[in-house]
Amino acid sequence: MKYIFGNWKENNTLSDVNAYIKEFKKQSLPTDVHYGLAVPYLYLQKMNKKLSKKCEIGVQNVSFSEKGEYTGEISAKMLSDFFCSFSLVGHSERRQKFKETNEEINQKVLKCFENGIMPILCVGETKQEKDEGKTKKVLKTQLTKGLSGIPLSKQFIVAYEPVWAIGTGLTPTPKEIEENIKYVKKVLEENIKKIGITVLYGGSVNPQNAKELLNASCVDGALVGGASLNAKKFVDIGKNLANVRR
Ligand code: 13P
Repeated sequence: MKYIFGNWKENNTLSDVNAYIKEFKKQSLPTDVHYGLAVPYLYLQKMNKKLSKKCEIGVQNVSFSEKGEYTGEISAKMLSDFFCSFSLVGHSERRQKFKETNEEINQKVLKCFENGIMPILCVGETKQEKDEGKTKKVLKTQLTKGLSGIPLSKQFIVAYEPVWAIGTGLTPTPKEIEENIKYVKKVLEENIKKIGITVLYGGSVNPQNAKELLNASCVDGALVGGASLNAKKFVDIGKNLANVRR
């Protein structure tokens, strides 16, 4: 099974969403690919109603608090009332543009678990960190701090997204992806005591490069930004992968 998750970010109006649902429903889906889409909060209910049989629907962020004086925030508890199955947590855009810390990200992960929402923890190094040879150090810190104190019975996903590969058309080599995802799994096993965790690669994945980038057996799938905005392209990423390993 391969896992293809999309992240719409701050994109799509209501009419775009209606067109997307129509287009997605027209696609024939490969049997061995699990699809998920992280949509803006406003579309969670509609997308769930229309597409949840074919594609898991979740959100892109969640509050670190349960309730209170946090103007503009949406809690995991609120989301659980709307059958939100997962939330991205700690996406690099949240870390960089909204200054989210590893400690806040950890709170968000814990809130997800308390409310039956599966977190997809996003980790990855910047270009500078890569150039300075700090990739593994950054990954270890983000993983151990972000997952600190989690209940061992709970399931989650990790998305390895090098910051410099997001929305740039640049990608690591398949070998680099394999090496870093293997390292993520090693940290999860040794430091978090979790084996068999699904780990995705994210950053400039499209239908053309998916097969090559996600070929290694340790790469469980992809977290897709830009290419997930087009239903056919998004589904095609999974279709192209389905030919890789069965
Ligand atoms: P792109 O696929 O547009 O590079 O975005 C990746 C991403 O940020 C997914 O969370």
